[in-house]
Amino acid sequence: MDKLLVRGGSTLKGSVHISGSKNASLPILAATLLTEEPCIIRRVPDVSDTNYMIQILAALGAEVERSSGTVRITAGTISHNAPYEIVRKMRASICVMGPLLARLHKASVSLPGGCIIGDRPVDLHLKGLEAIGAVINMEGGNMMIDAPDGLHGKEVDLRGKHGPTVLGTDNLMMAAVLTEGTTIIESAACEPEVVDLANFLIKMGAQIEGAGTRRIKIQGVKKLHGTEHTVTPDRIEAGTFMVAAAMTGCPEHGVTLHRVCQKDLVPTTEKLTESGHHVQFNEAGNSCTVKPGDSPQGANIITAPFPGFPTDMQAQFTALFAITPGISVVEDTIFPQRFMHCAEMTRMGAHIKVDNGTAVIQGSDSMSAAPVMASDLRASAALVLAALCAEGTTEINRLYHIDRGYENIDDKLVMLGADIERVRE
Ligand code: EPU
Repeated sequence: MDKLLVRGGSTLKGSVHISGSKNASLPILAATLLTEEPCIIRRVPDVSDTNYMIQILAALGAEVERSSGTVRITAGTISHNAPYEIVRKMRASICVMGPLLARLHKASVSLPGGCIIGDRPVDLHLKGLEAIGAVINMEGGNMMIDAPDGLHGKEVDLRGKHGPTVLGTDNLMMAAVLTEGTTIIESAACEPEVVDLANFLIKMGAQIEGAGTRRIKIQGVKKLHGTEHTVTPDRIEAGTFMVAAAMTGCPEHGVTLHRVCQKDLVPTTEKLTESGHHVQFNEAGNSCTVKPGDSPQGANIITAPFPGFPTDMQAQFTALFAITPGISVVEDTIFPQRFMHCAEMTRMGAHIKVDNGTAVIQGSDSMSAAPVMASDLRASAALVLAALCAEGTTEINRLYHIDRGYENIDDKLVMLGADIERVRE
């Protein structure tokens, strides 16, 4: 298992190119199952989650070629049975359900197992598919889905107790594009990744209105065709580098991020500014420079569905607040159990108390190196950020978590001046 040795105290400067979004790539790759014609997807980040999705597509019978960030998929003849050995590795595998149901009127997908960031039920996914005619049976840990009376457009409200569901919205949207009649998704997720998927489906010939709002209208069509698409920039990777720049960037030159999307980064930009840091976008909004402020101050965060503050950025801001004077409060309303990074940061000298989905952070002047354990993707990123500022060499174990979603994060940070070494074991 690889580990990372991070020697703290370097000052980051220079520029970095942000990769395509992992969370947009996954459903877009799954959506290629909707046509037998070839699709070409560009800027797919080379991370283990996209590799798992490609393995699932191949196991379902699709021909897949990958050359750096470009993936070409032809889903000529496909099977309905997504294999457990691959599905169990990644929860997002469930987004093959919608396309398989739409194309074959049949799908068998394992129920995803437990997840460190909290309970992650699939009731809303199933509610959406059932509303348009799917019949679901559980058998040996698998969801056996079919549509004995065909699929028919319907209006369905996908609001759950924690708000809308991103992959649940994706699944229903993908199932509805080939479903006779009109499907309306109320309380739909508005995340930029949902919009990117909708844009891809529209290029394939789907009729979709309202993606990016709480009401998406899909008029089913008979067939979709192959197309080409470039995945939207990863707003969470960008946000992670923005926080790194605020924590340990060069005050004079800062760190410049290329290939970003300003409008997707509004909540992150606002919180960095509120905490006393400087964020400057170019006119096109596709590049920004972040410099640490002279007198940073703590802030409060409550995560919320887009356009609110993303749950996928709370761990990184917790790391920032751990070295920011004053008291900060971070509440995660979407995944209230997603605070495993706090215990590890406490081992590095941070003062954090977690109670009932909320972390209260008393900023300290410094942190110190310690061996720590990555527990999930964003928690691992937060530990890397903390380690960049800590005195001494931090050893981050269980690195596979970070490799699920950050493309070459160590190489990118080294290019910016960080002192990081990956130890392969
Ligand atoms: N939920 C239900 N029932 C469902 C589905 C979700 O109650 O059927 C609840 C969840 O438990 C959670 C809330 O609804 O409390 C929102 O979950 P959502 O379904 O939106 O999460 P997701 O679609 O499974 C995606 C991202 C996550 C990100 C969340 C929230 C992908 C592949 N994953 O997950 O990303 O945290 O949306 O924005 O897009 C990550 O990248 O590190 C990551 C975990």
